[in-house]
Amino acid sequence: MENAVKTIGVLTSGGDAPGMNAAIRAVVRAGVAKGIRVMGIRRGYAGLLNEEIEEMTSRSVSEIIQKGGTILYTARSEEFRSPEGQKLGAEICRKHGIDGLVVIGGDGSYKGAAALAKHGITTVGIPGPIDLDIASTDYTIGFDTAVNTAMEAIDKIRDTSTSHERCSIIEVMGRNAGYIALWCGIANGAEDILLPERYDYNEQAIINHIIEKRKNGKSHHIIINAEGIGHSTSMARRIEAATGIETRASILGYMQRGGRPTCRDRVYASVMGAKAVDILAEGRGSRVVSYRDGVFTDYDIFEAMEMQKDIPEDQYRISKIL
Ligand code: F6P
Repeated sequence: MENAVKTIGVLTSGGDAPGMNAAIRAVVRAGVAKGIRVMGIRRGYAGLLNEEIEEMTSRSVSEIIQKGGTILYTARSEEFRSPEGQKLGAEICRKHGIDGLVVIGGDGSYKGAAALAKHGITTVGIPGPIDLDIASTDYTIGFDTAVNTAMEAIDKIRDTSTSHERCSIIEVMGRNAGYIALWCGIANGAEDILLPERYDYNEQAIINHIIEKRKNGKSHHIIINAEGIGHSTSMARRIEAATGIETRASILGYMQRGGRPTCRDRVYASVMGAKAVDILAEGRGSRVVSYRDGVFTDYDIFEAMEMQKDIPEDQYRISKIL
């Protein structure tokens, strides 16, 4: 069957994530294998507007599957948020003969892809944020690496926290979502896990919990705090004052976005990249690639953007028991 598209563009947008390179590699190699020309667009939508566009070959993506970050660079573009910027973006795609576009990124990037679709560009989104906060999918690129990186860092903080018999508040990324916090909370056996989706701001309850655990002989107390709640340093000061137990805050920050992708991130990102090319080759557009209930699938981008997601209640309940 003949490909419905002749030239595909690929860009990464928003926060980078380990595994994005695996997805880019898959888009390029799957495209080339089908005889489709693949153009790499540097620096996301900002680069599209600046026409930072170059043809990629199988060789352009050698030696990248094991690397964190994105070889295409990424950016957040103010200009592209405007209707004029989006219209210009579509015109630039047409000027370069790009009749299919793969966008690897989060919610904001999906909005950009949807806007281009309205201007007649055939687009497919691949879920890119480490935060796992895309409602249409159970997997997002980089989440697995990010939680493993954070888990290892928290193990280390736990060692010193135990030696000093301290309380530690460890803040993990996730924007407004608590998935990274929940997973680390369970994996690191945290005493308290504070999620934006569930936290009631009852700090006295945390203080009481720390005092009770200390009375029962616990030598440390680990609190995983999600970025969406934040204020870990001031929280630590208040907890120390109220409990008399030395309390330190550690904000893990950008280390969670870097590093070599895990096996899962390499494989899932590769499958998603190749699937995005299949979708475009079939002439289907305005889609997002997804992993749902153990199966790789795709959804209409406009429907996907309307979907809602919440922390799995059973996981949250179990985290409280353990
Ligand atoms: O979406 C990934 C993420 O790392 C979030 O966890 C965080 O809130 C945000 O990006 C930080 O973005 P920036 O790189 O603009 O500081």
